[in-house]
Amino acid sequence: MPDALRHVLDWSDTDAWDVCLGRALHHAAHPGWTDVARGKSLGMLFFNSSLRTRTSMELAAAQLGAHPTTLDIGGGGVWGFAWDDEPMNADRAEHIKEAVGVLSRYYDALGVRLFASKTDLEEDRSDRLIHTFASHASVPVVNLESALLHPCQALADATTLRQRHADARGKRFVLTWAPHPRALPQAVPHSALLTAARLGYDVTLAHPPGFDLAPDVVAQARSLADAQGASFETVHESANALTDADVVYAKAWSAPLVYTDPDAEAALRAQHADWRVTSQRMATTNDAAFMHCLPVRRGVVVDSDVLDGRHAIHLDQAENRLHAQKAILEWMWHLL
Ligand code: CP
Repeated sequence: MPDALRHVLDWSDTDAWDVCLGRALHHAAHPGWTDVARGKSLGMLFFNSSLRTRTSMELAAAQLGAHPTTLDIGGGGVWGFAWDDEPMNADRAEHIKEAVGVLSRYYDALGVRLFASKTDLEEDRSDRLIHTFASHASVPVVNLESALLHPCQALADATTLRQRHADARGKRFVLTWAPHPRALPQAVPHSALLTAARLGYDVTLAHPPGFDLAPDVVAQARSLADAQGASFETVHESANALTDADVVYAKAWSAPLVYTDPDAEAALRAQHADWRVTSQRMATTNDAAFMHCLPVRRGVVVDSDVLDGRHAIHLDQAENRLHAQKAILEWMWHLL
């Protein structure tokens, strides 16, 4: 009987999470090249820009002895994909069903980055497109950041947090909204929230009124925190939000208003410059580590003296993308 397909679209498979986190920590402690995946290939499709995900995933595959290929979708080098349209009379030449079917014949695993549309809330919150993509694949699919989640970032962040705190019990993790000139998606804050709750931190979700994350994700994070005997709270004021934090994870994200009135959402976002992370705000913490998934806008999201200071561990997070994704590929290919 063929092995079951091991997609990594989220971390609902807790056994996979435990195995991959242990393996990511192992790779972080023992970096280097092997040939355990020699003869394997990874095809990645990027519908959106990336620096870390594409380079760390290409290198992760190579360091395991596998061959990676990266395709940028939408730049003219690859056919435009239709997802639903039938008959396909619009300008998109290839249906996702054939595209994924063909790539499944070539590759041993596929990766896809496909951000939120910011036009269809229900589609984004159900993560419909990445599940559609995976449903057409006959090889495992890894989520390189979808509308809802960023599991590769989540595993790298968990690796970084474990390196910092072997035991998270009694430690306070604050996920704080931050200002930004663009309406950014919610996948990273969702994954950061779930990661902190899974690891057993006391979790504070801090954002201005109106910037709610997906209710299902928040409920899941609350229930994960409960299961760990940890606390979960939401606060809506920047003042005191970081007080006594052991970890501050800053991230900009858009308000759900973006789906119905993007101009009003931009105006709302512009009202909250006081949420920028400054050294004065960090001084109220318990000597907290500062985390960000990157890319980050200096002087907008966070001040440079915080990023350049001794508490910033954003480069550790970025490095751990490589170690975490080696673990994910090994798991997907039944090498663990
Ligand atoms: N954090 C992250 O996913 O970075 P990229 O967008 O550069 O891949």
